Amino acid sequence: MERSSELDRIRIAIDGPAGAGKSSVARAIAEKLGILYLDTGAMYRAFAYYAENLAEAGEIDEEKAEELFRDFDLKFADGKVLLGDEDITQVIRTPRIDKAVSPYASNPFVRKQMVSLQRSIGQDTDIVMEGRDICTVVLKDSPYKFYLDASVEERARRRFLQNEQKGISEDMEAIKADIIRRDEADMNRQADPLRKAEDAIVVDSTDMSQEEVVDEIINKTLEIKNAL
Ligand code: CDP
Repeated sequence: MERSSELDRIRIAIDGPAGAGKSSVARAIAEKLGILYLDTGAMYRAFAYYAENLAEAGEIDEEKAEELFRDFDLKFADGKVLLGDEDITQVIRTPRIDKAVSPYASNPFVRKQMVSLQRSIGQDTDIVMEGRDICTVVLKDSPYKFYLDASVEERARRRFLQNEQKGISEDMEAIKADIIRRDEADMNRQADPLRKAEDAIVVDSTDMSQEEVVDEIINKTLEIKNAL
């Protein structure tokens, strides 16, 4: 059967605060369903890395963002994030970029560009996208919307373990403080702030394994699809 109808597409949108496990969960869902995965946070992180390397640290106005964007050459290939020829997959996930990213992610010009890129990537394909404004802006017409949450203590604990695996040592209190700071920045910015979309299903993963979260989101998605 031809999959022409908009509703036949499965575009799963997942939003939530820092460190809720969106990336791992979204990647696993995409793998299980055999569909595309887009980590939109990686795009904002990549822009922060790029701008900081050009010594454009911190707040930039929209004009500056526009100028910088002209040579911003971001690609996703074979599960890697590339800036030009440079593999930046690992470096954008370090505490340095955790700390740098918020002002760039609040820049209206940067957001407009990213949203339009994200929409074009998801245009004709089944996809799982996760971030902060996926349910409210990027895929707001999708019926498959989720808000993945967890207590701040649990989110800090997960980020601590992730860092440990990568050989990064940052103490739990510093991680927790950074998570709280980024959540506040994301929830209180003018442009596309993080908030739960009215029709998003909340999944509180504090006491759930990754496997359980993945199954829950897939099951709800299939339930919604069958009810359409
Ligand atoms: O993995 P974690 O939850 O720590 O962060 P991320 O998803 O990689 O996103 C990094 C930062 O990018 C966030 O703190 C947001 O400021 C920003 N972001 C955003 O504004 N909109 C999105 N759709 C995705 C990320």
